[in-house]
Amino acid sequence: MKGERLDKVLARLGLGSRKEVARLVRSGQVQVGGRVVQDPAFPVPPGARLEVNGQSLALRRHHHILLHKPAGYITSRTEGPSVYTLLEGFPTRDLSPVGRLDKDTEGLLLFTTHGELLHRLTHPRHKVEKRYLVHLERPATWEDQKAFRQGLLLDGKQLLPAELTWQEDPTWVELVLREGRFHQVKRMFQARGNRVLYLKRLSLGPLTLGDLPKGQARYLLPEEEEVLYRAVGLFTGT
Ligand code: URA
Repeated sequence: MKGERLDKVLARLGLGSRKEVARLVRSGQVQVGGRVVQDPAFPVPPGARLEVNGQSLALRRHHHILLHKPAGYITSRTEGPSVYTLLEGFPTRDLSPVGRLDKDTEGLLLFTTHGELLHRLTHPRHKVEKRYLVHLERPATWEDQKAFRQGLLLDGKQLLPAELTWQEDPTWVELVLREGRFHQVKRMFQARGNRVLYLKRLSLGPLTLGDLPKGQARYLLPEEEEVLYRAVGLFTGT
């Protein structure tokens, strides 16, 4: 069976654009099955061991995939249109989303096969920051900022302090949460008599979307993986 082109495989693994990974290959930093390969078109035999600068890609125990979710997709395997349809070409069998984004919410959605990482990223105890861009029906107020900072009471539950900052137009704000309750952003503004018109998650802990186009997914880079693990007290390789 003929293998897939090396540059295509590396791009899919999140190491950069086809052009960038081709450059990486030509520079002699990539090994296939223990041999340096400098031809980006080299057909990678299925199951071959891939290394970049000595770091093994094929032997990873866990996968973490970053998706730039567009509106209109449901964070569910069974309900459609499902976000999983955007992960074509990735091994999705053991992948779970790290929290959920509503159907009409855009932005950063991480998937992982790592149960403990998932738990730590979503459990309020670890206070992992999630930053949202929010467009509101009416301008947010200083009182909203104060109420969020003190921790709103929502359905009888005390929320963790959240940070609200304004963009130039006061109907556009950023909100940083340290937990992820059901429809939390929308319900927080609803509790303040306002309404969310547009919502995008910009970051999760140290992860941002960078220039990942909407609707596209990629593997986390090794350095992103490392800072993410460190942010929740795990070590790479666990
Ligand atoms: N809060 C919401 O209300 N919706 C989301 O999708 C994410 C956070």
